[in-house]
Amino acid sequence: MRSYSITEWTVEPGKPIEEVEEYLLLQGFSSYAVEFESKRTLVKLYTDDELFINDLLIHTDSKILSKKTTCSEQWYKYLSKKPFELVKGVWIDPSGRMISDEKVVIKMTPSAAFGTGDHPTTKLAARFLAKHLKESCPVLDVGCGSGILGILAKLLGASSVLCVDIDDMALEVAHFFAEGNAVSVEFKKSDLLSNVSGVYDIVVANIVTPVLMKLIDQLECVTNNSTVIFSGITKKEKPVIIEALRKRGLSLLEEEELNSWVALVIKTL
Ligand SMILES: C[S@@+](CC[C@H](N)C(=O)[O-])C[C@H]1O[C@@H](n2cnc3c(N)ncnc32)[C@H](O)[C@@H]1O
Repeated sequence: MRSYSITEWTVEPGKPIEEVEEYLLLQGFSSYAVEFESKRTLVKLYTDDELFINDLLIHTDSKILSKKTTCSEQWYKYLSKKPFELVKGVWIDPSGRMISDEKVVIKMTPSAAFGTGDHPTTKLAARFLAKHLKESCPVLDVGCGSGILGILAKLLGASSVLCVDIDDMALEVAHFFAEGNAVSVEFKKSDLLSNVSGVYDIVVANIVTPVLMKLIDQLECVTNNSTVIFSGITKKEKPVIIEALRKRGLSLLEEEELNSWVALVIKTL
């Protein structure tokens, strides 16, 4: 993967870390690491967007402790390296060194794309994928980030998987991980479904709520009696999504919460 130069900001949040993380993810920002010290929590952010940093300081009462130029690999080392079970029988190995024996292992070292598997929104989407995916069905992963959900879908028996993202870097990373795990997945750059054709039995999307709201209006083109998994919704936002689904005549099959996040399973017409 490419290496590049970027600014590392260390900030001390004035609000609880959950609120700061919620703010970052709602902004679609994933290049950060949290460091717990004995008396305080620090957040390291990797971006050259000073306006974003200023907004963050205001919204989270944070203060900047340091700012320095670093290389992109630098932040990967802060992210978790311990293997963990994402869904029953499927492990994520951020170290790249876990021996596979009888377990299914996805090797996924920390990268510039969202989706190392340890975030609640990814976990919820993965659980629903494992529950609802039937062997030999086509799957669409919208906002694939690192490709973790698409790769999981293929390992769980999907006949084909199309992963799309609006971000070139995410697609580059996802491609790298699919190859590294010897999983055959198709990738396309697409703003939601603008570059997608075909019909999918399962559509999974872990994206922020305003983007999911737009996706609701496009789902009809790629679904037919399909199961749609939405993740990335905060508890506060759930009623807005439910109302938008109701207006489209889409029925809610199931929902699950983890920390302050909610994921939904929807059945389309
Ligand atoms: C929260 S990450 C999810 C990554 C991964 N699927 C997971 O579950 O961990 C959301 C991803 O959606 C992508 N995204 C945001 N807006 C999008 C859009 N309009 N069309 C396609 N992808 C989008 C972002 O680039 C990011 O990679």
